[in-house]
Amino acid sequence: MVETGKNLDTMIHRLHRLPKILWKGGKVGILEVKLPEPSFKGEVSVEEALSRRKSRRCYRADPLTLREVSQLLWAAQGAVKGGRRTAPSAGATYPMEVYLVVRETGVEDLVPGIYRYNPGPHTLTLVERGDYSEYLYKAALEQKWVLEAPINIVLAAYPPRTVTRYGNRGYRYIYMEAGHISQNIYLQAEALNLATVAVGAFYDDDVRGLLRLPKGYMVLYIHPVGRRCRGD
Ligand SMILES: Cc1cc2nc3c(=O)[nH]c(=O)nc-3n(C[C@H](O)[C@H](O)[C@H](O)COP(=O)(O)O)c2cc1C
Repeated sequence: MVETGKNLDTMIHRLHRLPKILWKGGKVGILEVKLPEPSFKGEVSVEEALSRRKSRRCYRADPLTLREVSQLLWAAQGAVKGGRRTAPSAGATYPMEVYLVVRETGVEDLVPGIYRYNPGPHTLTLVERGDYSEYLYKAALEQKWVLEAPINIVLAAYPPRTVTRYGNRGYRYIYMEAGHISQNIYLQAEALNLATVAVGAFYDDDVRGLLRLPKGYMVLYIHPVGRRCRGD
């Protein structure tokens, strides 16, 4: 059983790593986006971010910059010294995959689409090109902040990585880990003067299908992120 889980995991990730060919501006190319280096210093202290943090559900239409997206993804699951990540993980099993759903004109210099974040090289791999925000909104019980946000960060876990080591208790660890990552996104958004909310209400199969994830993956959170509305 343990071997089957591991093999499937390896196979799925090999498939994901296959280069994606796309037609862009009359050129055929592979879309792997190198993100700008994240910053390790900021203007807002952890204490300030904690004291201001709240769920913000109103977003302006202006696009985010690639630098802001890079910072948010790094805060969620970026690589740090010693092969670790910005959020803790039981036994360093790292069951979580981070996806990015970008709407039309959602991010400067990034075509709309569904992307997978690669923590090690700090890159994005295009999974599917196109604006899928309407689909995600419907899958999230028509919560309009999901539709209006220029980006949605989606957290999906592949449980065998943790459960093969910890048995059923591994599921508990995975839920805890989603909470750590979500709080990192909240605090980073706060420090960048952006707005976000953790969304846990959605149709699992619809979101999993949208991300092209096979059965066995578990989608845990959607985090719409955008620029704050005036007065928020
Ligand atoms: C597990 C979880 C699921 C949540 N799901 C949703 C959701 O589907 N939609 C939403 O608008 N807010 C959702 N929230 C945000 C909560 O409504 C929010 O955290 C709560 O009202 C407290 O407000 P605060 O975050 O501003 O402190 C969720 C929060 C958590 C922790």
